[in-house]
Amino acid sequence: MSEEVGKGRRSSSLWRRKPIALFAARNSGLAQALGTTDLVLLGIGAIVGAGIFVLTGVAAATLAGPAVVLSFVVAAVACAFAALSYAELAAAIGGSGSAYGYAYAGFGEIIAWMIGWDLILEYTVAVAAVSVGWSGYARDALAAVGIEVPQALMHGPAEGGLFNLLAVLIVVVLGGLLAIGIRASARFNAAIVFVKLVAIAVFIGTALGHIELTNWRTFMPFGMQGVVSGAAVVFFAFIGFDAVSTTAEEARDPQHSLPRGIIGSLLICTVLYVIVSALLTMIVPYTTLNVASPVSAALLARGVNWAASVVAAGAIAGLTSVILVLYYGQTRIFLAMSQDGLLPPVFGEVNPRTRTPVKIVLLCGVAMAAFAGLMPLGEIAKLVNIGTLAAFTLVCGGVVVLRLRHPELHRPFRAPFGALVPVLGAAACVYLMLNLPLVTWLRFVVWMLAGFAVYFGYARRHSLLAELPD
Ligand code: ALA
Repeated sequence: MSEEVGKGRRSSSLWRRKPIALFAARNSGLAQALGTTDLVLLGIGAIVGAGIFVLTGVAAATLAGPAVVLSFVVAAVACAFAALSYAELAAAIGGSGSAYGYAYAGFGEIIAWMIGWDLILEYTVAVAAVSVGWSGYARDALAAVGIEVPQALMHGPAEGGLFNLLAVLIVVVLGGLLAIGIRASARFNAAIVFVKLVAIAVFIGTALGHIELTNWRTFMPFGMQGVVSGAAVVFFAFIGFDAVSTTAEEARDPQHSLPRGIIGSLLICTVLYVIVSALLTMIVPYTTLNVASPVSAALLARGVNWAASVVAAGAIAGLTSVILVLYYGQTRIFLAMSQDGLLPPVFGEVNPRTRTPVKIVLLCGVAMAAFAGLMPLGEIAKLVNIGTLAAFTLVCGGVVVLRLRHPELHRPFRAPFGALVPVLGAAACVYLMLNLPLVTWLRFVVWMLAGFAVYFGYARRHSLLAELPD
């Protein structure tokens, strides 16, 4: 009996929970190289991409009309609540597993597993979807310099092609960068974030000179329901601030830099989105915006070709950094789950030379490249939204649960107004989930059921945390 206790007792409870200190004290061997500015830039890197450069047009033309600007506000409010909740848990608990680790501390292993499983889906599909978007812009850029990519190499078999070569290439190149090291990745990210911010500034400056208020005469053509459905779609544009929390073990002074990185990047992007979406629908009729590159198309329609080219370049840069940072976030969550034994421990190793989880970068890269190269991702991309909203809901819930269970926990950052922020955050996220199509819900449920099967088939029996005494 005493020997059993000495070795640690395997907890049989379905709700295995472990001391929070475990998550804070995790030493995964990663390099602590990121300051607050890096984190804000990583946040902007992950956030500004296909959402604003592509989805704004579809949402305006088919769902919300010029009131898409309100859709952005609605989605931003939901994200702000979630971001404040993330910031509280990131500062108090930390750990590169992000929401997975917070859920472990707050709810126990099974919920943590489900959220980790959910985040794996979110990031994998998001990277693949944005890579496919990237390939479209890159093909146009190559065509402009006389290089034609054959149609068969632009689509997977389901769309009559072989595979999407450019989408696979961008995943492979960025995977190589992530394997080399976090400092190189952060520097590269900062450079491309600069390019996309310049592009957005150029758009704003140019559009201000072409406003026609008559385009806003029918401001809300699809009513309030259109605004909310639009919000459930443009929510995609805000995804990424959560990835900042996965840097917890590579950040300097994470208790202060993480909240600043999460909230700062979301704030900057919200302001940019509201301005860009308002101007976009002011310079051209919303009905013309259902195209693959609405922001540059609107400038072309107004005859400002040079600005349209700058915006197209910014969009390529934007999509590149989104892929990079979400890919990064995916590998860190995977690493935390492997180091806890829920996924095979071989993936929990950090390469001593690069101090990056090279094997995970490789494995995730193969999965992402396969998705990006072979699958038509239009519809499946909605999975990203539902998965993220589910994660945000649990993070908001985790704030409330941890405040009740561990009032003594040192919280360097606290979401204001008592329980109001996390409760409203969870409610807003559930509300947006309910505005997603049924088929998206079905796919999500299938993925989560598969997660249960893997948990009871493998993860639960191999959990290292379960070996520790409660
Ligand atoms: N927020 C990211 C984008 O819009 C996912 O591309």
